[in-house]
Amino acid sequence: METQSTYNYKVVRQFAVMTVVWGIVGMLVGVIIAAQLVWPELNFGPWFHFGRLRPLHTNAVIFAFGGCGLFATSYYVVQRTCNVRLISDKLAAFTFWGWQLVILLAAISFPLGYTFGKEYAELEWPIKVLITIIWVVYAIVFFGTLAIRKVKHIYVANWFYGAFILAVALLHIVNSAFIPVSLTKSYSVYSGAVDAMVQWWYGHNAVGFFLTAAFLGMMYYFVPKQAGRPIYSYRLSVVHFWALIFTYMWAGPHHLHYTALPDWTQSVGMVFSLVLLAPSWGGMINGIMTLSGAWHKLRTDPVLKFLIVSLSFYGMSTFEGPMMSIKTVNALSHYTDWGIGHVHSGALGWVGFITIGSIYYLIPRLWGREQMFSLKLIEAHFWLATVGVVLYIASMWISGVTQGLMWRALNPDGTLTYAFIESVKATYPYLTVRVIGGLLYLVGMLVMAYNVFRTISVGKAVDAKIPAVAAHGHA
Ligand code: HEM
Ligand code: HEM
Repeated sequence: METQSTYNYKVVRQFAVMTVVWGIVGMLVGVIIAAQLVWPELNFGPWFHFGRLRPLHTNAVIFAFGGCGLFATSYYVVQRTCNVRLISDKLAAFTFWGWQLVILLAAISFPLGYTFGKEYAELEWPIKVLITIIWVVYAIVFFGTLAIRKVKHIYVANWFYGAFILAVALLHIVNSAFIPVSLTKSYSVYSGAVDAMVQWWYGHNAVGFFLTAAFLGMMYYFVPKQAGRPIYSYRLSVVHFWALIFTYMWAGPHHLHYTALPDWTQSVGMVFSLVLLAPSWGGMINGIMTLSGAWHKLRTDPVLKFLIVSLSFYGMSTFEGPMMSIKTVNALSHYTDWGIGHVHSGALGWVGFITIGSIYYLIPRLWGREQMFSLKLIEAHFWLATVGVVLYIASMWISGVTQGLMWRALNPDGTLTYAFIESVKATYPYLTVRVIGGLLYLVGMLVMAYNVFRTISVGKAVDAKIPAVAAHGHA
């Protein structure tokens, strides 16, 4: 076996393919629940009900689609930038099969109605324990590989991936602390306002570390690679890293404005959220400016389009987030579709686009091809996805502001101008547009799956050779 002279691409290939598969599944469930909000007749029995499918959607897109994308890219990036094979093939394979098992258990247990009841942490305790074990092994593989690296310098993308792995371990263990009452039911050890605060410390940092820091790791590797340019400012990337991870930890209370949480805590959350604009935009500018001198490539390279447009959405959602964290703005936006619009400009625009771009970069390299089967189909995917996101978020903004304004409208005598049901009726057209936007985005993913399938079927799985002499830079 020539394993020590090559990179372990097998596990990268496995996770890369499952990213596309789970992307389609998770987004299909997204389209289904979006349709259920327009046509309530689509709620069949208890198993196929919005309330049970919604957590299936969020978990599938975040942890299955996003998670597999992060495993694939972090394993690829850490090997390529350290000039060394993963420290253990067996442990890496364990993380792959273990993670697929978790996803399968989620897909079964949510429709059956099992839930821990905390958003983005709904899985019941036996699955939580399994996640903890897999995550510890992931940390061993990632940090172990860093430890045996042949390149002295630790490239900044690894800092972001590393922070993500450590932070998610901490968040998962603290927020999921449970008291089991049976094999399928457990309760949080916290109660009342403390429980809420712990949950949103977790929830916001799930956004900050799972949906942001880790994908910034992707950005710092794949944007310079695809653009063929060094990162615009390495110094800025280091400042970006420390500022971002320090600030994110404090922003959680903006999810709990005007609740039983002490008022000063809410204000701290708001202030840190406003501060967060600076590192977020620093990172976005660093990514976009990497194209200096290579802007013309955007005209002909649809993969670069995905990567760069993802940064525009990142900039947009990290401007919108701090605005929504201002208490008076939140008084309007909270509980409305505006929040859903914000979520998906980050999720579809930023997380989705950067992942799709990175997977398009990886697939031909993992299967020994010059490029994807069809660049035209990538271009088509790009436009389907772009129009899809725009329809999704624009409709949710209008719907959300409409809801917010209708709920607070008062007659001169102080009574409410609108009954709640009137606000529901007012949102129908926008909810329908959202279904169309989601459908377009999903069709784009199917186009991607076809393109990936064709590329793989003409290609052959190859594991690149590790350069014999450790270079100062990285490959
Ligand atoms: C075809 C694509 C998608 C469609 C049609 C879709 C649709 C939906 C719908 C209908 C909801 C429930 C909204 C509500 O309760 O009013 C939702 C929630 C959510 N989706 Fe998606 N989604 C899609 C893709 C994604 C992706 C790729 C991600 C993440 C990477 C994501 C993350 C979320 C999250 C976090 C929530 C919960 C939001 C909250 O509680 O505020 N979605 N989605
Ligand atoms: C500077 C960065 C950001 C700030 C300050 C921020 C702030 C906020 C605020 C104030 C809310 C509304 C809370 C509420 O009214 O309940 C929110 C919700 C949310 N944001 Fe962001 N956001 C940022 C970036 C992002 C990004 C990049 C993503 C996704 C990739 C994202 C995902 C979410 C999700 C999933 C929710 C819904 C949570 C829930 O209620 O279930 N945010 N954010």
